[in-house]
Amino acid sequence: MYNNLLFLRTARRRLSSVKRVVVFGSGKGGVGKSVVSAATALALSEKGYRVGLLDLDVHGPSSARILKPEGRPSGSKHGIRPVNAGGVELMTVEFFLGDLPLPLSGGAKTSLVAELLMNVDWGEKDFLVVDLPPGLGDETIVPLRVLKSLAHTFLVVTSPSALSYSVVRRLLSFLVEERVNVGGLVVNYVSPVGEESYVERLEEEFGIIALARIPFDEKMEAAISERNVKLAETFFNAVRLLSEVLAR
Ligand SMILES: Nc1ncnc2c1ncn2[C@@H]1O[C@H](COP(=O)(O)OP(=O)(O)OP(=O)(O)O)[C@@H](O)[C@H]1O
Ligand SMILES: [Mg+2]
Repeated sequence: MYNNLLFLRTARRRLSSVKRVVVFGSGKGGVGKSVVSAATALALSEKGYRVGLLDLDVHGPSSARILKPEGRPSGSKHGIRPVNAGGVELMTVEFFLGDLPLPLSGGAKTSLVAELLMNVDWGEKDFLVVDLPPGLGDETIVPLRVLKSLAHTFLVVTSPSALSYSVVRRLLSFLVEERVNVGGLVVNYVSPVGEESYVERLEEEFGIIALARIPFDEKMEAAISERNVKLAETFFNAVRLLSEVLAR
């Protein structure tokens, strides 16, 4: 249903006011896509860019916990307006799901994601950062097909571990089949106990490189729990370096 040309064109036209789209995907759950997406959006906005963040994480939207938006989305005749959150214009599925548990069928998840792709009025933006859900269900594949022709950079988040390797590898193979141009890996949870060889294997097998290496930061939880928008310093500094690469 969401594979037809009309949908793809409508969704792509929506994003025509955005100069650069940066997509974070993984396939693997819990590797840090959401914190890295939110932090990248913040870091780019810190540099003076006009930035939007589209959180499509139907399984566990968390960008609102990190960016602490004030207010709710409003409607205009042009569409749904995102909400300012720490300088970033945020749109998240959480605005529509609230704290409810998520007994959504696959079809309902896909519809929600598709609605956001078609109906958000982003206005002029230098960057739109997109946080994809984990897995390879329709809720991931539908946005991927919309974004693949627009994405300036498609980044795959992984961690230095055997389990990440096997799941991320599957996503990368799928992206090759779908002719998505992958900009590189983002390696999160870098630590002395990480198994870097798994990252090297992904680099070699898919001919891509790690654009960022983000350390495990034990201050993460404490920083996110603060009332103001704050990210742990070691983590955020590594993401700032990534944002410099993206802004080049
Ligand atoms: N570099 C890091 N150092 C410390 N904690 C981290 C780091 N990266 C992520 N975390 C923590 O790990 C948890 C999972 O991160 P996050 O929700 O961003 O993952 P995700 O890939 O989006 O998960 P999901 O697949 O469920 O969407 C969060 O509690 C986050 O704060
Ligand atoms: Mg997430």
